[in-house]
Amino acid sequence: MSEPANLPSSLRLDDRVAVVIGGTGILCSRMAGVLAEAGARTVIIGRDQVKAGAVLDRLRAGGRNVTFESCDAVSRTQLRSLVGRILASRGSIDILVNGAGLNSSTPFLDISDEEMERMVAVNQFATMRSCQEFGKYFVERAQSSGVGASIINIGSASGLNPLSRVFTYSMSKAAVHNLTKSLAREWGPFGIRCNVLVPGFFPAEQNRAILTPERIDQILRHTPMGRFGDPDELTGATLLLASDAGRFITGTELVVDGGFSVVSV
Ligand SMILES: NC(=O)c1ccc[n+]([C@@H]2O[C@H](COP(=O)([O-])OP(=O)(O)OC[C@H]3O[C@@H](n4cnc5c(N)ncnc54)[C@H](OP(=O)(O)O)[C@@H]3O)[C@@H](O)[C@H]2O)c1
Repeated sequence: MSEPANLPSSLRLDDRVAVVIGGTGILCSRMAGVLAEAGARTVIIGRDQVKAGAVLDRLRAGGRNVTFESCDAVSRTQLRSLVGRILASRGSIDILVNGAGLNSSTPFLDISDEEMERMVAVNQFATMRSCQEFGKYFVERAQSSGVGASIINIGSASGLNPLSRVFTYSMSKAAVHNLTKSLAREWGPFGIRCNVLVPGFFPAEQNRAILTPERIDQILRHTPMGRFGDPDELTGATLLLASDAGRFITGTELVVDGGFSVVSV
């Protein structure tokens, strides 16, 4: 990754505050890292303090400004309190990444109500509630001072075309894509940009159980670049969407998948 001094000024995020929900995880911790590297004061959000500690140790190397706040993103009360705490301690919020996520591959007829509700709660409702709770601040600020913001929701290749075996996940991610486009339309006039970052396949915690040898073979044969993604390969797209370099980009699905989603036969 480039040293901050080498970044073009349109990609710099100095004086901005970035909040990365799911920032204790594999993909979003890398995204948080690049936002901090570009100069943003970055707050990672999750529930697991131990995981957070390890991520902070890694991300703070080189003097990056990264902190952690605990929050269950499914809870509106906790999200509201989170927004208040961040504003009180950091003064503003400019970039929001919604990346809390859960996956499972239960056969369709066996999916229980409990599983359905848990997955939709994390993938879909947490994203929607977060957009509301942070969005209230973003809209008020835009109306009073004309300052915009960037929201990056984490979608999935399964939010474009439903993947086999991951029914609830695909459904909930498709909802995230749809919501993001609605918010781009709604908040474009305020300069609040909303985009979906769409990762293809990146081995991580939430898909470890799903990536069986047979599944891996299927995925790689379907991927023109013939390999999984590396989490660092999301950092360019993250910076583009977060920074002024992407200031006219809203409502887009930015796909980072080695070509997986364009293969139909
Ligand atoms: N890996 C892939 O191939 C892939 C592909 C497409 C999309 N995605 C999406 O990318 C995002 C990141 O996934 P990942 O692969 O990096 O998985 P991961 O390592 O499991 O990270 C997911 C993070 O979400 C957080 N989280 C889960 N429920 C939460 C809740 N209720 N409140 C707050 N945080 C919560 C977890 O933090 P705590 O444990 O600290 O709560 C965890 O660190 C997800 O939205 C996933 O669906 C991943």
